[in-house]
Amino acid sequence: MSTPHIEAAPGSIADTVLLPGDPLRARHIAQTLLDGAIQVTARRNMLGFTGDYRGRRISVMGSGMGIASTAIYATELIRVYGVRRLIRVGTCGGIGDAALGEVLLAQSASTDSRFNRHAFGDLDLAACADFGLLQSAASAAARLGIAARVSAVFSTDTFYDEAAGRLELLRRHGIRGVEMEAAGLYGLAMREGVQALAILTVSDHLDHDAHLSADDREQGLGRMAQLALECALAA
Ligand code: HPA
Repeated sequence: MSTPHIEAAPGSIADTVLLPGDPLRARHIAQTLLDGAIQVTARRNMLGFTGDYRGRRISVMGSGMGIASTAIYATELIRVYGVRRLIRVGTCGGIGDAALGEVLLAQSASTDSRFNRHAFGDLDLAACADFGLLQSAASAAARLGIAARVSAVFSTDTFYDEAAGRLELLRRHGIRGVEMEAAGLYGLAMREGVQALAILTVSDHLDHDAHLSADDREQGLGRMAQLALECALAA
């Protein structure tokens, strides 16, 4: 068994998958945080690994960038490999009172994508995280001493967005982070009856044109991956 985009053998992917956008980040997480990790797929260089975290079998696989790419992998992971829990670990642009380096636990994800409308009769879906995962992530963050806030985020299809007034509109709705995947992942998980959560480090501030240094980014991503793994254990 394999899919058009995943060549893993049946049974080689755990029921819980961490999804960073970058496949090399997936490899890094597997090599640094999982015991006995083995590579299970590399089709199109979208690397996936399975190993153990504190005795629990967990996989980590790149999702690519954007809802379109993420939804392809998530759909195949759910429908073909039986994955029940998807935890995105990524970065976002911060707006309003978001602080560089802080972690956002995305409770809801609004979007300019038509991905969920397409599946929801052109209605507006309230794309939201699984509450159990959200709660587990919030408790794990408190335990690990990681500054994390449950937040509303916005998933855009357009990284280089020049729409006038867009940031102001998001700020006025209390949205704290902009990224490109959560709304699609949440909508898909709701339709498929599985759990999903996006855990995001604020890597840039969109109001102030501020950016995390490469070192801080690296460190932040490592902490976030650990948080995701702890959250997976509790779920
Ligand atoms: N926009 C969209 N996605 C992102 C950003 C951003 O500013 N930063 C990190 N991911």
